[in-house]
Amino acid sequence: MDRRHFTRICSSLVIAAGASRTLPLSAAQQYARSTLYIDAQTPLHAAELAVGKPYVFFYPYVTTPCFLIHLGERETNANNASPIVAFSAICSHKMSHPAKEISFINYRHDEIEFYSHAGKTEKRSKVISCCSERSVYDPTDNATVLGGPAPQPLARIALEHNRDTDQLTATGSTGANMYEKFFEKFGFRAQLEHKVVDVKAPSPEKLTVQLVDDYSRQTIKC
Ligand code: FES
Repeated sequence: MDRRHFTRICSSLVIAAGASRTLPLSAAQQYARSTLYIDAQTPLHAAELAVGKPYVFFYPYVTTPCFLIHLGERETNANNASPIVAFSAICSHKMSHPAKEISFINYRHDEIEFYSHAGKTEKRSKVISCCSERSVYDPTDNATVLGGPAPQPLARIALEHNRDTDQLTATGSTGANMYEKFFEKFGFRAQLEHKVVDVKAPSPEKLTVQLVDDYSRQTIKC
């Protein structure tokens, strides 16, 4: 894993203040705590995350994908904004999501062009782009929808940072989510892909994280 270091983590989601601490999130739904690992034995350290490369992990259920992204320096919402964010990777339009075969939804650290809700073509970097029907989300601003047919932002995953161990723990999900609809539409396929019977089983205490490019054989970029 590419190792890069960042010097500060300070946001409403990820707090660096001695031992681990998480500020209350309005409307956050608490789920079982899951600490992020590289593999079964090796904890992921926040300082190891590569800037601009999206990772995937499955939370709050064993089959629901989330993006973990190190945004690098924050240019907007700088007040207490963390460079490390996590969002559900299930598009709120028709639930496109990273699958082993292919992912149409991806984080784009480089600049892309899209048609925005302002009614014009815009160029932006650091966006989550769903190439199914061109919905674009802003992960620097709670995954609000910048363009396309998506009706709502992506659900945000609450992360807790332990400053002593530099480990990250997912603790909940906030905002409207697509979990139930995802199970209805993709439950059978998710059973096969994840080799589980219960697609709604909560994520385990130790949760493996990997690069989206390693998880999905093809990643579509638009
Ligand atoms: S499923 Fe993402 S834009 Fe349609």
